Amino acid sequence: MSLPAVVPAPASIEAGSGAPFRLSSATGLAGDTDAAAALAGIIAACTGLTLQTGSGGGIELRIDPSTGSGTGTGGRPESYRIAVDEASVVITGADAAGLFYGVQTLGQLLVRDGDAWSVPAVTIDDAPRFAYRGVMLDVARHFHPVETVTGYIDRAASLKLNALHLHLTDDQGWRIQLDSRPELTARASATAVGGDAGGFYTKDQYREIVAYAASRHMIVVPEVDMPGHTHAVGLAYPELAEDPTISDHMRDIIRDYGGEEPRPGVPYDGMAVGFSSLKVHDEATYDFVADVFGELAAMTPGPYLHFGGDESLSTSDEDFALFVARVSEIVADLGKTPVAWHEAGAAPGIADTTIGQYWGYRTPQEGMAEKARAFVDNGGQLILSPADAIYLDMKYPEPSSGAAAPEPGLTWANGPTSVERAYSWEPSAVIPGVDESGILGIEAPLWTETIRTAADIDVMAFPRAAAAAEAAWSPATGASDLRTWASFRERVGALGPLWTSMGIGFHPTDEIPWVAE
Ligand code: ACM
Repeated sequence: MSLPAVVPAPASIEAGSGAPFRLSSATGLAGDTDAAAALAGIIAACTGLTLQTGSGGGIELRIDPSTGSGTGTGGRPESYRIAVDEASVVITGADAAGLFYGVQTLGQLLVRDGDAWSVPAVTIDDAPRFAYRGVMLDVARHFHPVETVTGYIDRAASLKLNALHLHLTDDQGWRIQLDSRPELTARASATAVGGDAGGFYTKDQYREIVAYAASRHMIVVPEVDMPGHTHAVGLAYPELAEDPTISDHMRDIIRDYGGEEPRPGVPYDGMAVGFSSLKVHDEATYDFVADVFGELAAMTPGPYLHFGGDESLSTSDEDFALFVARVSEIVADLGKTPVAWHEAGAAPGIADTTIGQYWGYRTPQEGMAEKARAFVDNGGQLILSPADAIYLDMKYPEPSSGAAAPEPGLTWANGPTSVERAYSWEPSAVIPGVDESGILGIEAPLWTETIRTAADIDVMAFPRAAAAAEAAWSPATGASDLRTWASFRERVGALGPLWTSMGIGFHPTDEIPWVAE
């Protein structure tokens, strides 16, 4: 009997031998009210059926900390069990997040049976491999409004991802209102890459995003990138920023993509990196950093604040180390865990709780593995975001059919990046000397130099975000028959109708055998 298609692959799934459970408008949804509302929403979107919530019979949803006891997943945070037979569907979560993930899985199990809908007889015991499972959205290169962000939260949560990293600031714009530094949004938020309109989140809107994420069991990880990627800071507070450094890289970017050289006091709407730096030897800079992260810490219930630290190409190594040591300490003193891109691992004085985010390739190049490993040697952990696999803004390959690949995307991270490449890597094999215990989790970033709309986000993220979700949630490659590209492409293909009912405009790549209905 073939197994139902679940993505990310569950820890354990066994097909039952009995008849499926048949859904009808008389089916009752009993138990936990939040989970019942979430499941009723999925079933309505997918099947058009409106189930009776709060009534007995049929589908039961409950939280029980001993869920799965006696199995490999028993009692673990975020774990769940689904048991389906002809008479009932029972979803049990070890906690509210586990129950929510069981509900997401049930949405994937719905099968159309002629005019009716059913759920195949099955038993699933499931728990995540990694605690941190994220997506990143760059709202600096192009600003994305609250409804686009909440839509992305829904999409990510359906793949059992639990962290939304917002890249809130960059050379091209500052996107978060702060009372202590009002000039940031007054002077540095109006523009975006390519001369497009900018924007920013008010503090209330940021809180709305945080609350929406929490209702889907996701945390928000705000990033304010520094000491580089800070041209926008210089528009608002010129005394804090060095003048732009014009490099060969800058000339290459202008040649390839057009745009102007960055100039002090003028908004930058090109795509070059590495030309800006905060003033590292000025105490006013650290007052600014303390204000910014202090306000963000107060609005962010999640444990992490990300201070960037990547591509600080116009800051000397010595200055960079000094800056990273001070800023990581400021964040840690706020009671938060600092996160930084892997370059910051080169700073000997970095706060020892800092989490490193690795964005090199699946096979590290040029000292990147050493920088990443330093976080683990210090007592921290790593988030893995291998750019040649799960940078979701890399172009897709042209399809063999001759149809065009989606328009947006860049290729600098060894792109184009196929879904197969996004899938085919094993987290514990990326950084030599860093095994599973050194890995906090996996995150798939989406940079937005070429990504302007919610539809662009959908087409770039889906289906490749599902590959990242499987690396983050599912057993290690080799530890489950399901953890192969051959299995993944079939399972993802089966999700096409569900994604369509959720309004996800995925890329119908010919790498995947999409099921029509
Ligand atoms: C990065 O891609 N600069 C983190």
